[in-house]
Amino acid sequence: MNQAALILIKPDGLKKSLTGNILTRLSETKLEIVAAKMVRVSKPLAEEHYRHLKDKPFFPEIIKYLQGELHDRKKVMALVYWGKDAIKKCRELAGATNPEEADPTSIRGSYGRITTGGIYENVIHVSSDEKDAEREIKLWFSPDEIIVDLYPAREVIEKEHKASAWAQ
Ligand code: TYD
Repeated sequence: MNQAALILIKPDGLKKSLTGNILTRLSETKLEIVAAKMVRVSKPLAEEHYRHLKDKPFFPEIIKYLQGELHDRKKVMALVYWGKDAIKKCRELAGATNPEEADPTSIRGSYGRITTGGIYENVIHVSSDEKDAEREIKLWFSPDEIIVDLYPAREVIEKEHKASAWAQ
């Protein structure tokens, strides 16, 4: 069954120059990349992304982590992978949430670490199921940024929408 999965290369992955390695590992899945962009993560976006963890003691730290405040890299790379069993395939390559428990050959097992404060810096985010994937993809991307029609969208006419254009 074709599925979509949100992948985030988190600020530690970017700081450690792992983008190429991670994309190479993910290419083993033979899935299609249908959206990709660099994002400066606002606090509301990070809080909404991790809203299922808002009561956890480590919540403030993972918000700072996703925003790049722990790595001096205020950005993440967001991608949507699409194809057969996309979530299972990407999660297998990513490995377990806790990098110490992750298969050592997985992305998190190879490159993740636990900070002295106990936060799992695990380099990459992968949606955990189809429901989460839909919620997350709609949070990180607009329909126009995805090159296939993943979910029903409606047309909107934006009036007085302030945007930037090239000066020349
Ligand atoms: P979670 O959504 O449970 O896992 P996953 O990212 O594998 O879907 O957790 C979100 C992030 O929070 C996780 O990638 C790393 C961090 N985290 C910790 O630092 N400590 C923890 O005990 C847990 C559960 C998560």
